[in-house]
Amino acid sequence: MEHYRITILGTGYVGLVTGVCLASFGHKVTCVDIDVKKIVGLKRGVMPFFEPGLASLVRHQVKQKRLQFSTDAHASIPGSEMIFMTVGTPAKRDGSVDLSYVRDAADMIGPHLRGQEIIISKSTVPVGTSQTIRRIIRRHFRGPFAVVSNPEFLREGVALKAFSRPDRVVLGYEPKTSATVKRKMRSLYRFARGRIIQTNTETAELIKYAANVFLAGEISFINSIARLCEEVGTNVEDVARALRADPRIGQKAFLNAGIGYGGLCFPKDIRALIKMSKRIGYRFSYLNVIEEVNRDQRKLFVDKIRRLVPRLRGAKVAILGLSFKPDTDDMRDAPSIEIIKRLLCLGAKITATDPVAIPTAHRIFGNSITYVPDAASALKGADVAGIVTEWPIYRRLNFTKVRRLMRHPNVVDGRNIFDPKKMALLGFRYDSIGRKNFSPSVTPLYT
Ligand code: UGA
Repeated sequence: MEHYRITILGTGYVGLVTGVCLASFGHKVTCVDIDVKKIVGLKRGVMPFFEPGLASLVRHQVKQKRLQFSTDAHASIPGSEMIFMTVGTPAKRDGSVDLSYVRDAADMIGPHLRGQEIIISKSTVPVGTSQTIRRIIRRHFRGPFAVVSNPEFLREGVALKAFSRPDRVVLGYEPKTSATVKRKMRSLYRFARGRIIQTNTETAELIKYAANVFLAGEISFINSIARLCEEVGTNVEDVARALRADPRIGQKAFLNAGIGYGGLCFPKDIRALIKMSKRIGYRFSYLNVIEEVNRDQRKLFVDKIRRLVPRLRGAKVAILGLSFKPDTDDMRDAPSIEIIKRLLCLGAKITATDPVAIPTAHRIFGNSITYVPDAASALKGADVAGIVTEWPIYRRLNFTKVRRLMRHPNVVDGRNIFDPKKMALLGFRYDSIGRKNFSPSVTPLYT
């Protein structure tokens, strides 16, 4: 197996996971970032974010001398056969993609090339960005190099597994890409066991948006079905189970109804695709509907809390879970943010807990809410509890004990992790998303 010298430009989520995984496959990797604090931390084994298994793998690969960290791209790029671009592509105010980091990275690469390098674009970027990268590099270097579009599909919380055992690897090539470059890319992704989809750069760029929008669409679809279920008194989980049994939909379909999607990717990519489509004159109205349904789910959750506790002023609301999903401390566009802000506006006193995201939450809410280390402390004396993130430890809560802890036994479960019948039997006024209520005093919201 061939091993390559690789530079990764941008040591964020995708960059760090890509770097450490490629190092574990035997390549010599340097992860570069302009954030000095981050690189100093990584050199000391401090991870910039929480991801299960990442810290130990990074430390091991550093020890094996296959992985190193640097702030100096100018020193690292010369001599690298492959240069990954994994810089951030944040959203601009109008929803379009800010490509300035991509452009800066391309500008930095150009002067250091010697010939035959492969520049691999992994950031989520609008269609045509690979050509932009080529144009910028060309300004500095006239020799041969290749640009490959290789979007990343990893999921936070399961990132290492998602990278090392991918469902598919998409490789988008420029028209005149040589057989040698293609062979090297196949060799690099040998661990994908042939699950490689080869296409041109534009298609590869679009695939990434299509994939995320499709998944977000599934979520908004099932959340709309959940609304119907509440109206007619049926169960969205039964509907989802039946849908998943259809192989054309599949067991892993994103059909968990709840308070909707959050995170960096889905919200940003939907907005970017709306912009991209508009620019070429296509009104992709489906995307607006996905967004609207998602926004409404957050409002619905607060409405459900208000239905159980109509006078929220001064009421103690326990929020269980702050991150946008379990196994991450990421709160970018997390439903918890909007939910907590709305509750604060209504005068509620928030006591929040999360296994790992409290430091992140502190940066967002400061001292406007109270943070506690565990669910029991949050629930103590609470008038209502809101389940916002389905962390496994919350699934194991002993509700007989919880009943005694709370001042009033009101629970709104935004992730459908508890059994409505059992909760009613235990004496809770319990509400969830798209499921029948068994607590006598909870009436459906939309009748
Ligand atoms: C998502 C995609 O799943 C990845 O394939 C993609 O590579 C990544 O974005 C990216 O573009 O980088 P991620 O944002 O890490 O990954 O998280 P997901 O597990 O997809 O969850 C996203 C949101 O949807 C979460 O808030 C989650 O709670 C919500 N969700 C997910 C639901 O509400 N219902 C579901 O059935 C599934």
